[in-house]
Amino acid sequence: PGPIHDSIKPISWILGKWVSDSGTGTYPTIEAFSYCEEIVFESCGQPTINYYARSWHTQKKHPMHFESGFLKINPGTNRAAFVVAHNFGLTSLEEGDFDESNLTLKSSNISRMEFDKEPSVTSLERHFILMKENIMKQHVSMQTSNTPITTHTSATYRRVID
Ligand code: HEM
Repeated sequence: PGPIHDSIKPISWILGKWVSDSGTGTYPTIEAFSYCEEIVFESCGQPTINYYARSWHTQKKHPMHFESGFLKINPGTNRAAFVVAHNFGLTSLEEGDFDESNLTLKSSNISRMEFDKEPSVTSLERHFILMKENIMKQHVSMQTSNTPITTHTSATYRRVID
């Protein structure tokens, strides 16, 4: 890990590589599935945390969802902004609050490429919860053009040392 800029010290509990083998995916319009995921929140000394996530099917092992982005803190406040690009052609700007064990985000902007398939995502909510030092949960809910806000993915991660 790189040096930690003062502005991200209040959320340094999220730094590291996290692995889950217990992800569950649900949505009213799809069949439930399970997934494994690796997420990385990395400091390189800038006032920004670099983020990367990749997931794969628990049984069949094929790659599933990928995300890449940046987490920024408004210095001296509990406000956070998360800019994320998703591999299927969507970008989300998610903004919210954090404390010593929670980061709660809600999309303030979602963009999609013109040939992304329907339904379109119209809102996203995400919650990271530090359960204990090296255990974290994430829940993601989404609203689409035909389904109200509903949980889509939930996973529990353990922090791993490279
Ligand atoms: C389905 C978005 C994360 C796996 C969907 C759908 C959308 C979507 C819009 C279609 C829902 C519908 O047809 O009503 C997102 C967004 C995510 C996310 C915005 C993150 C913020 C994930 C992750 C995984 C995943 C992490 C797997 C590890 C799936 C699967 C389906 C699905 C398997 C069903 C596909 C199908 O039936 O064609 N997702 N997803 N999603 N998502 Fe996600």
